[in-house]
Amino acid sequence: MTHANSAHEAWATRLGLVLAMAGNAVGLGNFLRFSRQAVLNDGGTFMVAYFVCFLLLGLPLMWMEWGIGRHGGRFRKGHVPGMFASLWKHPAAKYLGVIGLVIPMMVFVYYTYIESWTLAFTVYSLTGAYDGLESTDSMMGFLRSFQGVVPSGQHAWWVPYAFFTVTLVVNLWIVSKGISRGIERLARIGMPILLGFAVILAVVVWTLPAGPGGETAADGFAFIYTPNWDRLGDSEIWLAAAGQIFFTLSVGMGSLQAYASYLSRKDDVLLSGVATASTNEAVEVVLGGSIAIPAAVVFFGVAGATSIAASGSFNLGFATMPVIFQSLPMGGLLGFLWFGLLFVAGITSSVAMATPVIAFFREEFGMRRETVTWGLGSVVFFLGLAHITWLGHGFLDEWDYWAGTLGLVVFAALEVILFVWVFGPERAWQSLHEGADIRLPRIFKWVMTFVTPLLLFLLLGWWLVSDAIPILRLEISPEGSPLSPDHVPYVLLSRAVMVLIAVAFVVLVRQAWRRNRYDDRTGFTENGVSP
Ligand code: PHE
Repeated sequence: MTHANSAHEAWATRLGLVLAMAGNAVGLGNFLRFSRQAVLNDGGTFMVAYFVCFLLLGLPLMWMEWGIGRHGGRFRKGHVPGMFASLWKHPAAKYLGVIGLVIPMMVFVYYTYIESWTLAFTVYSLTGAYDGLESTDSMMGFLRSFQGVVPSGQHAWWVPYAFFTVTLVVNLWIVSKGISRGIERLARIGMPILLGFAVILAVVVWTLPAGPGGETAADGFAFIYTPNWDRLGDSEIWLAAAGQIFFTLSVGMGSLQAYASYLSRKDDVLLSGVATASTNEAVEVVLGGSIAIPAAVVFFGVAGATSIAASGSFNLGFATMPVIFQSLPMGGLLGFLWFGLLFVAGITSSVAMATPVIAFFREEFGMRRETVTWGLGSVVFFLGLAHITWLGHGFLDEWDYWAGTLGLVVFAALEVILFVWVFGPERAWQSLHEGADIRLPRIFKWVMTFVTPLLLFLLLGWWLVSDAIPILRLEISPEGSPLSPDHVPYVLLSRAVMVLIAVAFVVLVRQAWRRNRYDDRTGFTENGVSP
């Protein structure tokens, strides 16, 4: 496969590329976040909103991000400031693009940290560390003790730090090997494992005998597939569905664009884009929807599952599932499959989040991949320590809200405007079809030009009023509950660190443009050669 991006990097094969893209999209979001959001938002009603958001937001954005990324690659830009500058010849473009460095970098920090819990629990499943904790409450206690939130003597204080360090080092090691030898190879090995583990678990859940309340897996499916049409006007459900679509498809982040920048004009983006999106949806809805939700319904009923999901972001995945597995034959093995699946799903996504920042330093400052990777790694390590230490004080929730939820929509709104409106609807449409293996139905041109941007702004406005402003003003926590006063200093600290990171990247982008003498009005030269 030919390459356009710097340092002569490229995907080795098309299959490898699609696997890497699918690995990027398929992550913790498909199994943990999806299950929880669907259960909390009335199952079937959520699914209706979810599919509408997929068709009108997720899929069009997926195509556009592949297109924007490949277009940036023509100018050897694998980072969003460069991509935005290639779409809009204006000095402000690069600064708007800073959001595409800040978001993936911040999400990388806390996502890797959560990924490290899945590694820990994979080990614990094998060693039998939680054997005998057969109630959801005692498992929740085990999780909090591991996290260091409520020390109970079950774990030493340094345990979460150790698992985080190991997880981070493995991530960095893979990333330091480069696109085809690191990320693509990981996807070729990881994706089949992930699918295999998920299929086994789904079969186990489908064939569960009826639980204590007489519920079977079929009741779980009935819950996710029976909408309450009269609740479809509930704006919270729509916001949750849209947020899930963004997170699960990895759109509004900069990482799909970075991956696509290693393509050339001759490569297709449309068929590959739809292949990535549908793989992600199949894994999320068919497999993700067949594990935690029906299992929890069998054991605890719909009401029980809902209250567990409401009791904390990770209780369904980390407390309920181990309880369920322990009541089944070979429970330790099932636990290993579940947490192992989560770890593999997580790591093929976290390496994607590291990619944009690495591309930025390599392309603009001529640094070696290894140097950037380990340098970035050290910064991430220290930021991670803050997350571990202050987990119980709402430090992480702030990042997850501002960067990992609201930020994605802000980013997506900016890029759609730049691609479709500034770059131009005709040019955008043509650029997407260059080298394409399929032609999109023309209705999507209309959707991308009008519907997607309109919905994004609607969503943004709605979100600002219902959540963002009250959260910003410290009235509620990102979880929607009243903010407890002793969290306030940590929340403010958490925000201060985010602002600092953003400012640092603005300065770096400015430096980069000066160093390389880019002229914002004439734009970049193609592949280092004048056009
Ligand atoms: N889509 C991933 C998930 O579902 C998360 C992710 C977001 C990955 C952004 C890369 C970039 O877990």
